[in-house]
Parts: sequence; structure tokens; C-alpha cells
Amino acid sequence: MSARRRTGDTRSREALVERALEHLWPDTHAFESTLVVGTFRSGFIQSLQSRADSVQGWSRWATAQTPGTPWPPSNQHARALIRLPKSKDEFDFVLKASVSTIPVGHHVWVVGANDEGIKSATKVMDKYLGGIVTIGSKHHCRLLRGTRTPTSRTFQLDDLEWTTTLDLKTGPIPWHAMPGVFAKGRLDEATALLIDTVPTLKTPRTVLDFACGTGPLAHQVHTYFPDADISMIDADSVAVHVARKNVGSARGYVSDGWSNVPMSSFDLIVSNPPIHTGKAEDHRILNQLIADATDYLSAGGQLVLVGQGRLN
Ligand SMILES: C[S@@+](CC[C@H](N)C(=O)[O-])C[C@H]1O[C@@H](n2cnc3c(N)ncnc32)[C@H](O)[C@@H]1O
Repeated sequence: MSARRRTGDTRSREALVERALEHLWPDTHAFESTLVVGTFRSGFIQSLQSRADSVQGWSRWATAQTPGTPWPPSNQHARALIRLPKSKDEFDFVLKASVSTIPVGHHVWVVGANDEGIKSATKVMDKYLGGIVTIGSKHHCRLLRGTRTPTSRTFQLDDLEWTTTLDLKTGPIPWHAMPGVFAKGRLDEATALLIDTVPTLKTPRTVLDFACGTGPLAHQVHTYFPDADISMIDADSVAVHVARKNVGSARGYVSDGWSNVPMSSFDLIVSNPPIHTGKAEDHRILNQLIADATDYLSAGGQLVLVGQGRLN
């Protein structure tokens, strides 16, 4: 199946989930403030706003239109509605965050499609919520609900961080990671391959690590070129949060592709770019990176990227 077809399937699934939710979402809570978690299509949050007193969106992922933030806004909400994320680790993360923003006795709602694993979502919800029920199903999608109990644990962002060791050629280093970040904070084989080439590159003054994850490429560029001014971008604000800790000398920006890149004259751009959205192959960002890199490179600047052998 082609990447374009898969991306199209993803979009039509989003539409289906939203249609199912329109049907299943109860109007009885019209005057309660709702935290809406995850990336919905534009216009959907506004459509919910007409059915609730106050709706606040939160996603750890940036889009070109919305900034991603690692944790929900601190004010309390009467309930949270989660769009089932693409990975289990990320679901665990948003559940912890959502439970922490609602009072005891209030509900967390989760919506998703059967082929995204909504049926097994109850197992993860069980860890943090009581009284889990299926509210309804429609269009091969389900709406689930759980209740925060007096024994439900609450969390803050930094409670979820762990430290591991990254074994680099230049020696082992302590490395921060958080749930849902790329490769669980470990060193990816393709990234290691790119790191091997770093010492052979022309000394740069300004560097961009595009799609930095937890920051291993930026870290190694800094090790070999300590005077370089390094920027890192990633659409996952949680990844940027930990990358800033891992590479204290670099600046981190939350950016969907090029949308929030701080400047446009890099001597070196390094990247192990994303080629998936969830499980589906998606070359949108890889293509954008290649197409627009020249706009962001200084004269004679280099783009060095790594990808799987089957990419052409
Ligand atoms: C293959 S991983 C590489 C991460 C890191 N450079 C490394 O080597 O460990 C790709 C990264 O792209 C990020 N990403 C996904 N979609 C993105 C987008 N639209 N814009 C920027 N970064 C994105 C992911 O969060 C992930 O951290």
C-alpha cells in the first residue's frame, strides 16, 4: 500500500472517530469545562465548544496551527476527553496527565477506532481510573469512560522522566527520556550511522538538528564542534523538553516541520527524519525537509540525513 493511500486512510479514520464522537458525546455536561486531549482535525474543538461551557485543547504534538506543550494547562477541568494516541506509551502518558487535572469523582473519556486498539484501552485506563464503562460504539469506534477515585495517583511532568545510559563512541553518558519519545530514549541504529559521519564534516558555526527526538545528534555535534551554535526542533514537545536537558548547550524549539524554525542560515542541518505517523508510513516531513532545506542553509551549507535503505 502506498504512503499516500495510508495517509488518506488515516484522515478518513479521523473523520469517522469524530463523527462517532458527535453521536456518542452526551449533552448532559454542557456547562462543565472540558480538557480535550490529542490532535483533532481543525474545527472539531470549536464544534465541541458549542456543546460545553469551556473547552481547552491540549496536545504534546505541535501542528503548523497549534503549539504543542508537554503538560496540560494547570487549571482544573471538570472532565477530560482523550483521542486515543497512536502508541501505548503515549496513551499512558496522557492518561497520567489527564487524571491529574480533574477532581476525584470526575470522568476521563477516551475515544478511538477499533483498529487503533480502543478495545484494549481499558487495560491501561484500569491502572489510573475506576468504574470503566463503554458508553457506546458507532462507525467501528468506541467511547469509553473512567472515574478518578480517591486512590488514583496524580503526577507532574518531571515525575515521568527516567535516566538511562547512552553508549556513544565518545563514551557512555547519562540520558534523560520520557514516555512516548522516539526509541524510548535509546540510540537508534540509523542515528548511530549518522553520528559516525559527524567527525568527517566541515566545522560548522550554526547547526540545526531537525526532528531531534531526545537530542543524540545535537549532543554529538556539540561534542565534535563545541563552538557551534546548535538549535534543535521536534514536533513532540515532550521530546524537546528532554532534549533541552540532554544537550544543555543547544536551544530547543517545538516545531511541526519547518513551521517554527528560529532562523534560516545554518551551516549544517542533520536529521534522522520521521517516516511514519503512528504505524503508517508517511513521508510528508521527509519530503518537506529535502524540498525546503536550501531556504535554511547558508551558502555552502550541508544537509546530512539518514534514512532506511528502501527510501529513494
Ligand atoms: C526517527 S526519529 C529521530 C529522533 C532523533 N533525531 C534520534 O535520532 O533519536 C524522528 C523524530 O521526528 C519527530 N517528528 C515527527 N513528526 C514530526 C514533525 N511533523 N515535525 C518535526 N518532527 C517530527 C518525532 O517526534 C521523532 O522524535
